Amino acid sequence: MIFTKANSNEILSGDVSQWTKSLLPTLCCPSGCNKQMQLTQFISRKNCNIYFYNIGCENCRKSYCVKQVLNLKKDKVNQLFIKGKTLYSILAVSGVHSTEFIAHDEHTNSVLMPSITGDTLEKLIIQSFFKGEKSHLKCLNLLAALADQQAIMHATKIPDNLPMPTPCSNLEYENRLAEYLDIGFIQQALTFAEETPQQKIAALGESFKEGMENVLLHGDFQAKNVLIDKHNSAVLIDLNYGLGHPLFDIAQFLTQLVRLHRTWNFPKAKSYLEQYGDHFLKVYFSHGNEHLKKDLPFFMLWAMAFSLRGDLTMPAFVKRYIGSHIKASVMYKKWAGISQ
Ligand SMILES: Nc1ncnc2c1ncn2[C@@H]1O[C@H](COP(=O)(O)OP(=O)(O)O)[C@@H](O)[C@H]1O
Ligand SMILES: [Mg+2]
Ligand SMILES: [Zn+2]
Repeated sequence: MIFTKANSNEILSGDVSQWTKSLLPTLCCPSGCNKQMQLTQFISRKNCNIYFYNIGCENCRKSYCVKQVLNLKKDKVNQLFIKGKTLYSILAVSGVHSTEFIAHDEHTNSVLMPSITGDTLEKLIIQSFFKGEKSHLKCLNLLAALADQQAIMHATKIPDNLPMPTPCSNLEYENRLAEYLDIGFIQQALTFAEETPQQKIAALGESFKEGMENVLLHGDFQAKNVLIDKHNSAVLIDLNYGLGHPLFDIAQFLTQLVRLHRTWNFPKAKSYLEQYGDHFLKVYFSHGNEHLKKDLPFFMLWAMAFSLRGDLTMPAFVKRYIGSHIKASVMYKKWAGISQ
C-alpha cells in the first residue's frame, strides 16, 4: 500500500463504499503535513464500476480526487500508475498538461490525483453554441492549444522500461475495421453517396499502410476527457496510454466532436463544430506531420465504425441503466440478437 497511514483510526459512518471504509480513515495528506484527509464528495455513477471521491486536507486547503476502478485487475492498476507517474513528468517538460498520479492503492484499485477545478472542454464547447462570440473564440483558442499538445504527445519518446501494451499495427486496424464492416448495419451507415466503405478504403491505395506509426496515444481522446483549469490550460484526464497510429486519437476526437450537434441541436452547433474540427486539424498538422494526412479518411471510418459497434452492443441510453448488471446485459443482447 502506497498511501501513508494517518494517526487517527476513526471509522466513517454511512455505507459509502469499501474504499472510504478501508482507506480514508488511514489516509493522510500527501504534502506531508500528517493531517487526516476529509471526504468532501462521493460520486458514484449508477451501475458503473468507477467511483470518484473528492477529498481534501483542511490544513493545506488542497483538494485531491481518487478514482477507483473496480473493473480493472490489480496488475492493470499498478501498470497504469507506473505509466501515469513516469509519463506525467515527461509530458509536463514538453508542455503537455495531464493529471499527475500521486499514489495508488492496489487493495482498493484506486489512484490519487490532484483535483483540477474547471469544466470539461466538451461543456465549454456546448455552451459556446448559445453564449456568444467570446465563448466561441475561447473554444477555438483552446482547441488550437490542445492540438499543439496532442502533436507534442504523439512525438514523445517513451522510455524502454515502461509496461506498454503491444503496439497496434496498421494491419490490425484494417482487420478490425473489416470485422466491424461485416455487420450489415454498420456497412449501411457508412455508405455515403452510393460508395461503400470498402470502396473508399480501396480508393485510398496502398500508401496509407506505409506509415506504420507507433506513438504514444491518449487512448480515449475526446473533449469529455479534457479539463480546462483556472489558468485556461487544457489538462488531459482519463489517459489509457496505448501505442498505435496517432490518427487513432485524432479521428476519435473528431468523431465524438461532430456527434455533439445531434444531442445539442442549437442553430449554431453544426457550423461551430465544423469550424472547431477544421481548426483543430489545421493546428495539429502544422507540426511537421503532414504526411499523416493521407491516413485520415481511413481512421475516420475506423472511429465511426468503432463508435457504431459500441452503440450496437448496447446503446448509451440502455447502458446507463443496465450496463453493469451482467444478467440484464446478457438478456438484452439475446433480445437484440447479438451473440457476444
Ligand atoms: N483530476 C481530476 N480533477 C477534477 N475532476 C476530475 C479529475 N479526474 C476526473 N474528474 C472528473 O470526473 C469525470 C470523469 O473522469 P474520467 O477520468 O474521465 O472517468 P471515466 O473513466 O469515467 O470517463 C471528469 O469529467 C471530471 O469531471
Ligand atoms: Mg472519461
Ligand atoms: Zn495537508
